[in-house]
Amino acid sequence: MAMEETLLVRGGARLMGEVAISGGKNASVAVIPAAILANAPCIIENVPDIDDVAVLIEMLRWLGAKVEFDGRTMSVDPRGINRCDLPYDLVRRMRASYYMIPVLLSRFSQISMALPGGCAIGPRLIDQTVKGWTTLGAKVEQERGELIVTAEKLIGNEVYLDMPSVGATINTMLAAVLAEGNTTIFNAAKEPHIVDLANFLGSMGAWIKGSGTDIIRVRGGRPLRGTTYTIIPDQIETGTLMIAAAATGGDVLITGAIPYHMEALSAKLLEMGVYIREEDDLIQVRGKRPLRAVNIKTQVYPGYPTDLQQPMTALLALAQGTSVVTETIFESRFRYVEELKRMGANIRVIDRVAIVDGVKRLSGARITATDLRGSMALVIAGLIAEGETEVLGTEFLRRGYEHLDTKLCSLGAEVKYLSREMRVLEHAAR
Ligand code: EPU
Repeated sequence: MAMEETLLVRGGARLMGEVAISGGKNASVAVIPAAILANAPCIIENVPDIDDVAVLIEMLRWLGAKVEFDGRTMSVDPRGINRCDLPYDLVRRMRASYYMIPVLLSRFSQISMALPGGCAIGPRLIDQTVKGWTTLGAKVEQERGELIVTAEKLIGNEVYLDMPSVGATINTMLAAVLAEGNTTIFNAAKEPHIVDLANFLGSMGAWIKGSGTDIIRVRGGRPLRGTTYTIIPDQIETGTLMIAAAATGGDVLITGAIPYHMEALSAKLLEMGVYIREEDDLIQVRGKRPLRAVNIKTQVYPGYPTDLQQPMTALLALAQGTSVVTETIFESRFRYVEELKRMGANIRVIDRVAIVDGVKRLSGARITATDLRGSMALVIAGLIAEGETEVLGTEFLRRGYEHLDTKLCSLGAEVKYLSREMRVLEHAAR
């Protein structure tokens, strides 16, 4: 019988104590490729030790860059880059792979790369990225599952995005710093990681104004130098731990966070009856029972983040009353709900809306994760369920949450990864 790694969660513990937030995943996966643009090594601090970062390191080394990473600080020396043919096996493992394309255009005039992978959460179109690149003068073709991007040189221009896509904003910004002349991106995404990338590029010598607003202006073509930069704390990890604290009726002090990034979530938790205190980079969350039902609608930043829709739905499964959760960003981001239902949650999904009728208890079960953020809903459910929950599909958790098990255990939860080998031994001992 084939055994895979699982995460074992024993429910019932209240999370208590202090926990520090790791560096942002979605900021890191944009900043690390951007280091290729520099003419000297970059030092990137506060990088999370997660599988997505490991994939990026493999990519950079494949290309010929020198990379060192001690689990927190990364140095990238891009000067040895001598190829641009990234293997499909790496590219398909994450969405952000395509950020490699504009940055490699600084060294090669044609890049062929498989279309990017990422979680199966509905169609993930790239038409706006293609629009950004072609408006700046690149030729983009698609053949046999590959994107072929050709540009002898890029020229600044005005780019109007049909929707504030995170990926398209990042890809256009990366191409714009390379382009000669001025670029304006209208209807840009405003997520914190966009601002972080702009700050990183700025510290390399790029001229970028307006990140964090919906109009970003770039004066391109400047030489970009090596720099030392610290990644922002992870907004989604912060929110997930806030929800976990509230869900378990715990009392947790989250440190090294940016409370300002969390306003949409904090407002909802307050509405549910959770106690929240914010001070500098600290957020204290104290859960109360019972919690009130609330309605959630995911939106682009500063609206409620789609990446926190899943843990919130798990929390609402035990709130008093009926909550309506509406997903407006991705088409199919409720797959994890079937697993919550197996634990006793009363949730109906109609198209992009989940109607959550609060129940009194959830019970532990063996459940399977199908995507990164959905897997976190299952962990939260496991923390509040009676008995033991075993989450399969841990590769998703490992992609995005640094030291998840140790962090939750330090707050008093009983959570552990059971390796394939440990499970085989346990099975044999039965
Ligand atoms: N869209 C288009 N055309 C485009 C681009 C996007 O129609 O050219 C649509 C997509 O199909 C989707 C929506 O617009 O329905 C949002 O897409 P967006 O480009 O904004 O998202 P993304 O860049 O693919 C990033 C994060 C996601 C996060 C979303 C929304 C990274 C690597 N990924 O994805 O994070 O959910 O923004 O905030 O930054 C995760 O971390 O698990 C994750 C999925």
